[in-house]
Amino acid sequence: MKTVLTSEKDIEKAAEIIRNGGLVAFPTETVYGLGANALDGEAAKKIYAAKGRPSDNPLIVHLAQASDAEKYAYTSPLYYKLADSFMPGPITVILPKKDIVPKSVTGGLDTVAVRVPVNETARNLIKCAGVPICAPSANTSGKPSPTCADHVMHDLDGKIEMVIDGGVCDIGLESTIVKINSDNSLTLCRPGAITLEMLHEVCAQVKTDRAIEEKAEADAPPIAPGMKYRHYAPEIPVIIIDGNHECARKYILEQAEKQKCGALIYDEDIPYFQNIPYHVIGSIDDMSGAAHELFDALRAFDERKDISLIYAFMPDKSGIGLAVFNRLIKAAGFKIIRTDEE
Ligand code: TXA
Ligand code: MG
Repeated sequence: MKTVLTSEKDIEKAAEIIRNGGLVAFPTETVYGLGANALDGEAAKKIYAAKGRPSDNPLIVHLAQASDAEKYAYTSPLYYKLADSFMPGPITVILPKKDIVPKSVTGGLDTVAVRVPVNETARNLIKCAGVPICAPSANTSGKPSPTCADHVMHDLDGKIEMVIDGGVCDIGLESTIVKINSDNSLTLCRPGAITLEMLHEVCAQVKTDRAIEEKAEADAPPIAPGMKYRHYAPEIPVIIIDGNHECARKYILEQAEKQKCGALIYDEDIPYFQNIPYHVIGSIDDMSGAAHELFDALRAFDERKDISLIYAFMPDKSGIGLAVFNRLIKAAGFKIIRTDEE
């Protein structure tokens, strides 16, 4: 199949591809999505095939406006409270599904994840298509999510009909996922730009799924099935170094004398890393910047042949830092070394 790389000028053609059961990758404010008609179970199956994604991992249904959720799910006052505060924007809400949503979209679950993106191109595509669009991140399963059209082409060229290039994504990490529980509490299933602190302002009771910080065990599966996979994995292994920043830096520099490794560093570290391959993810005081750069940096490491290991610093876990931390520990397969224990 020839993949057409184009811009928003072809939005009508893209909408037609979606309506006819094909696949179009498109920009959102978080990461690029790989879209299909969410009401067409066969089209959804093509997404799993193109990505090599396990079929038990459900897709997010993208809507033009929050109230469209009524057609596909059972909403609640808490849903509209979240919608008033954060939609359109980088949040996904898990709700009990209505029968109209095919099971192939929800990985067999009786819930559906809904999201209303704020990115103009994404919104226009959903409106033009006239159907809800189910879309996972537009990467090969197991790769970091794509934050620009180049990343999408790298992974999916020849496997999908069209890619709409809308430049670099504003946020760079996937949406925050929350589940509304029957007792009107929320569970944070995946952290993102809508932070835990922001959710607390809307709902007094927010639990966090253990899968955000810990490796999922067979007897305690995560609420979002995708959280159990070693997502966001570059080909070269990643190890996170925890502890005081200077100690961690010293440890990495010592290791670099013994082995061919690279480092994911901050602006402030640059002077120390002149003899080691590195990629910078912005200033240590700016976790939004780190979120924006992280996946591009992990992908850039994948292109290198001169290292066999990547060291990364433990990020600050407040605000969007929790999302950076979550993606990094998954990239690292939960491998963390603590440098200042004694
Ligand atoms: O920002 C985003 O959310 C991007 C853009 C394209 O919108 N999409 C995205 O999709 O990250 P994906 O498929 O890569 O991640 C969706 C996550 C998976 O971990 C999946 O298991 C979870 O959402 N999920 C989807 N539907 C669910 C459901 N009904 N119950 C629990 N988890 C669900
Ligand atoms: Mg994904």
